[in-house]
Amino acid sequence: MEKLAATLPKAELHLHIEGTFEPELIFSIAERNKIKVPFASVEALKAAYEFQDLQSFLDLYYAGMNVLKTEQDFHDLAAAYFEKAHVQNVVHAEIFFDPQAHTARGIPFDVVIEGLSKAAEESKQKYGITSKLIMCFLRDQSAQSAMETLDSALKYGDRIVAVGLDSAEVGNPPSKFKDVFDKARANGWLTVAHAGEEGPPEYVWEAIKLLKVSRIDHGIRSLEDPELTRHIVEEQMPLTVCPLSNVRLKVFSHLKQHNLKRMLELGVRATINSDDPAYFGGYVGDNFQAAQSALDLNQDELERLARNSFHASFLSDGERNTYLSMVDDAVKHWQNLRKHDLCQHE
Ligand code: ADE
Ligand code: ZN
Repeated sequence: MEKLAATLPKAELHLHIEGTFEPELIFSIAERNKIKVPFASVEALKAAYEFQDLQSFLDLYYAGMNVLKTEQDFHDLAAAYFEKAHVQNVVHAEIFFDPQAHTARGIPFDVVIEGLSKAAEESKQKYGITSKLIMCFLRDQSAQSAMETLDSALKYGDRIVAVGLDSAEVGNPPSKFKDVFDKARANGWLTVAHAGEEGPPEYVWEAIKLLKVSRIDHGIRSLEDPELTRHIVEEQMPLTVCPLSNVRLKVFSHLKQHNLKRMLELGVRATINSDDPAYFGGYVGDNFQAAQSALDLNQDELERLARNSFHASFLSDGERNTYLSMVDDAVKHWQNLRKHDLCQHE
């Protein structure tokens, strides 16, 4: 099963590019930009990655990205992610970025998007990975700031596929951003939102009803509300679940307690993602492996998770079908290898 989890082609749909900033790269970009990191060494920084909850992580996450200044920096950040994703058989990635966390520091929006886009184009050439950008609003900032960010992004049109909502959830319900999301949809963008990570099921309802999202990011607390669970199953509303993140941010005390398997049993269109892999101990393949072993996911469940990732993506039907047949091929290949291994042991 471990081998199947590793070899399945996957789409990653919940990935904050700033959360892929590995400590080694933080130090090297800081040095290039002549910025002093407030930690003595890579090891000292890594040792600080002990989180009590979402906010304690966000404090370090925003501090880390402060060293990103130039187009080259954003390019190098994304290029490092694509290289790791390729090794773990990610063939398509829909990537979040947090423009407000950069523009607030005086970094122009263009610098961020140009750097990320260049790395995406190169990775398409180098690895064949397709990707899309999702611009997130920081929900702990004002709706007005989100609206200004939206206005400054409009000129990028189809360089961005959707808008999202992230940062500190509790106390910042989706309803706060209804007008911003209305305007984003009116301009042709799709919508997603973090909801039900630490916040209550009501926030998931709001994201669906008011922000008209195509996917819920995390959504793990949805299962506390039977009517919401029924709705999510009926509508096949995808949940982008991030198992290692949920344990590192103490939403679940252990991966064995995670409700991902329960979701699959109920017919929820769940996917596996890495959220902020540099901070949470693993990329998407590592999340598949860890979830498989802690929850004893079987072949059918692993296949479903991989297929769900493409069904829940913003790919065209043609692209989706190509990737789905790659999943079929990977499964057949794995079955043949297994048969061969069994024969040899007879
Ligand atoms: N920003 C980066 N990672 C996040 C997460 N897990 N939840 C909310 N906002 C985030
Ligand atoms: Zn997230």
